[in-house]
Amino acid sequence: MMLDLTPRREDLDPIEIASRDEITAVQLQRMRWSLTHAYENVPFYRHAFDSAGVHPADLTDLSDLARFPFTVKQDLRDNYPFGMFAVPRDRVVRVHASSGTTGKPTVVGYTAQDIDTWASCVARSMRASGTRPGDVVHISYGYGLFTGGLGAHYGAEKLGCTVVPVSGGMTPRQVQLIEDFGATTIMVTPSYALSILDEYRAQGLDPRKSPLKVGIFGAEPWTNAMREEIEQAFDMHAVDIYGLSEVIGPGVANECVETKDGLHIWEDHFYPEVIDPETGEVLPDGEKGELVFTSLTKEAFPIIRYRTRDLTRLLPGTARSMRRMEKVTGRSDDMIILRGVNVFPTQIEEQLMAVKGLAPHFQIELTRDGRMDAMAIHVEAVEGPMGSEALTQSAEELKARIKDRVGISVDITAHGSRGVPRSQGKAVRIIDNRPKG
Ligand code: DLL
Repeated sequence: MMLDLTPRREDLDPIEIASRDEITAVQLQRMRWSLTHAYENVPFYRHAFDSAGVHPADLTDLSDLARFPFTVKQDLRDNYPFGMFAVPRDRVVRVHASSGTTGKPTVVGYTAQDIDTWASCVARSMRASGTRPGDVVHISYGYGLFTGGLGAHYGAEKLGCTVVPVSGGMTPRQVQLIEDFGATTIMVTPSYALSILDEYRAQGLDPRKSPLKVGIFGAEPWTNAMREEIEQAFDMHAVDIYGLSEVIGPGVANECVETKDGLHIWEDHFYPEVIDPETGEVLPDGEKGELVFTSLTKEAFPIIRYRTRDLTRLLPGTARSMRRMEKVTGRSDDMIILRGVNVFPTQIEEQLMAVKGLAPHFQIELTRDGRMDAMAIHVEAVEGPMGSEALTQSAEELKARIKDRVGISVDITAHGSRGVPRSQGKAVRIIDNRPKG
């Protein structure tokens, strides 16, 4: 039995458990402000709204938002670096940026008030995860232009925790500091958590005896099967945190430790829609599509109907009144179409976790043989003695499961223990070796 870390109701922000009517009223008022603020201060939005023939005053109901145009990543690139800021540059106290594999990075900015809003959202997320004031919080998300490290950091301080700002890398030292400083919460990508787990075992330490009680994992997709693996290995709660730099950073949505049934979206600050990615039409709650966000309170960088490319569905509130989003299956960018079948890396992860003898690390390699695409999955043996026959058998089992349950034929390349490259931040799941063009 894991610890019951359900927060006390009186410790929640009242809006988390307010009635839907109250939440809707706050949203409508704030959405009007946010649309007006964007329209009046960002030439990009003024032009986009004018071209679509809409004006902030047209919003009389939340559903009117559907009449406003979408914003996409390219719009941010076109206005590089500061063209989307809605306040004078000297009111911007911080910028973050996404590295972006190609082209210009996307830059986002924050006023002092925005930093405070963000810290409050992360503090709320951490409380939902089971973290309490006074906890020692070990932060292994990267610090720097990435929002993970500093976002988690300010939230943890705001909640009243002792923050250990380790950032990613130097894995042996991560283990030492968790043990020596008595970290009770860790914030890290799930894939890097697995590297830390390996390191525990390499040092001959029992991870179940670590001081950790809560892990707050995000920045990349991960499955419930992975949750179970991590919870078992560390004897701690593993909770999902979601966010993206364009919207604010981590802390847009978070699971509740008492239910772990999807992520409650902090709807008083971020208004969600799910759309059909082909037609752009808004889908009813419960239907799966692309997640779109509108910021309701941000000053420096208001964002209207931002297409995240993340695929999920909206669900009613449970432990909180605010709506949930189902765990993200993947990004539309990461969807592989293999001989007509759509596949996400999370589907492979789910099958891998079910096979004994294989470690939870994997990479997908895509190649092209003539006109046919092929997929090879690189996996590795668990630590400890394992004959090559047993490894081959596990690989065969994985191949069969993927054929049966995902519906595709893949090659499995089984490496010895530690044969798959490790991440120190977001895992690289797909290696695309298909010829370009
Ligand atoms: O990854 C912010 C973050 C940091 C979230 C730490 C959680 C923890 P970006 O680098 O802008 O920001 O990447 C955002 O990462 O659109 C998703 O595709 C993915 N992502 C983030 N959280 C999750 C999650 C940060 N919990 C992009 N599950 C998003 C699945 C996630 N994917």
